[in-house]
Amino acid sequence: MQISFAETRPTGDYALVIPAMGGNRPALGDRSAALDGALRRQRFDGEAGGTAEHYLDDDGGRRLLLVGLGALGKPADSAEKLGGAIAAKLLTSGETHAVVDLTGLDFDADSAARVALAAVLRAWRHDRYRTKLKDKQKPTLATLTIVGAAAGAETRWTERWAPVAGGVELTRELVAEPANIIYPESFVARCRAAMAGLGIDIEVLGEAEMAKLGMGALLGVSQGSVRDAQLLVMRWNGGEPGATPLCLIGKGVTFDTGGISIKPAAGMESMKWDMGGAGAVAGAMKAIAGRKAKANVVGICGLVENMPDGNAQRPGDVVTSMSGQTIEVINTDAEGRLVLCDAITWAQAKVKPTTIIDLATLTGAMVVALGHEYGGMFANDEGLATQLTAAGKASGDALWRLPLGEAYDRLIDSPIADVKNVGPREGGSITAAMFLSRFVDEGVKWAHLDIAGMAWSDKPATTYDKGATGYGVRLLDQYVADVCEQ
Ligand code: BES
Ligand code: MN
Ligand code: ZN
Repeated sequence: MQISFAETRPTGDYALVIPAMGGNRPALGDRSAALDGALRRQRFDGEAGGTAEHYLDDDGGRRLLLVGLGALGKPADSAEKLGGAIAAKLLTSGETHAVVDLTGLDFDADSAARVALAAVLRAWRHDRYRTKLKDKQKPTLATLTIVGAAAGAETRWTERWAPVAGGVELTRELVAEPANIIYPESFVARCRAAMAGLGIDIEVLGEAEMAKLGMGALLGVSQGSVRDAQLLVMRWNGGEPGATPLCLIGKGVTFDTGGISIKPAAGMESMKWDMGGAGAVAGAMKAIAGRKAKANVVGICGLVENMPDGNAQRPGDVVTSMSGQTIEVINTDAEGRLVLCDAITWAQAKVKPTTIIDLATLTGAMVVALGHEYGGMFANDEGLATQLTAAGKASGDALWRLPLGEAYDRLIDSPIADVKNVGPREGGSITAAMFLSRFVDEGVKWAHLDIAGMAWSDKPATTYDKGATGYGVRLLDQYVADVCEQ
């Protein structure tokens, strides 16, 4: 969808969108009795994101869409609800152009730009394989014009939020694509294409290179797959030359069958999005490079496919990780931590970061605990946890902190190796985090974000339709803006 900004409403054919501030008071000047009646019949009360429609007889039958802004407590929130409602209502409505008039609202430049952001995000769809879509199902809305925005809104859109939308879209595409299309090598190829010209340095390690480095935990997962595993490293150097970069690490299991500890058939197709952490890291890199963030950031994706096979690893196998620690693989379905531990060790050896944030669709237990409202956060540093919580609130990608601790760590001691890859059923997300913590070097600030409940949604929300959400991109972008660029 194209976004444009204008001082006054254009002429010609378009749907007019009028935000209604607080209660039932759309800023329409003299309202006709017919409009008042229409609003009453539609029970329009100005609730944030609520809508009502009317057709203006005296304006060629133009469609009028009223969108509530609620009590306007937080303009940025109302702004996103407004943008999201415009896209949700008009995307396939037959209208090709929508004009939203913000005149008289106290939206600052950022809030006005966020109307555009939310509309663009809410309009995203993945129709690539739908060859028989009926005309009525196809998107029509091609342009959104924002009228009466505060000075600086257009710059805010082009310089901050349009690049972020591009990053979210990359993540959603990677997450939505099926696993016969997106596997480790094609994940890398998609990222290369999507990041071309942005100034991101890309390095890729294949299985031979990883074997030389002793990454036996990651490679053990990949062993049953005909696809070559990849470690994708993306470097953005927008900050002080030589300054230590922030390290982002993503779990990129392009399909998780569970391996020999195979998952039940029902719902297994959802494991195509078990690369949601890696997808978020890739999208975040695109976003921060796209807006030329003044920060140094390295994004690392551990990309593998977890398959059962004659050559697959078995429950009980002992593998040696790059750190030298040996791991008893009790359950081949607890593969994400095996991928991440070697990626973390590689990052510490090569990048020597002071801060690592990893993102992973790591445990079903996380979904049981938090549902689909918060990503779970584990952190070994209070400051990092506070900053991430704040970035979560500001970006809408909410986080809730869970504990780490010695008693949980005892649950993954192995009788044959240094550690085992699963603990008991209870506290399953926490023991997964404890497993990762054993690979984090002394002095490194580290946060692990278990986003199993967030990468995919079965129902639409303000800024996404059902499907891939792009969770994590806005969170990481906000963290970089708030912490690394200050
Ligand atoms: N990718 C799954 C976790 C998952 C489950 C993500 C549901 C999203 C939705 C992960 O690899 C996994 O299989 N975890 C196991 C761990 C268990 C074997 C200790 C789980 O959660 O059941
Ligand atoms: Mn698994
Ligand atoms: Zn998995």
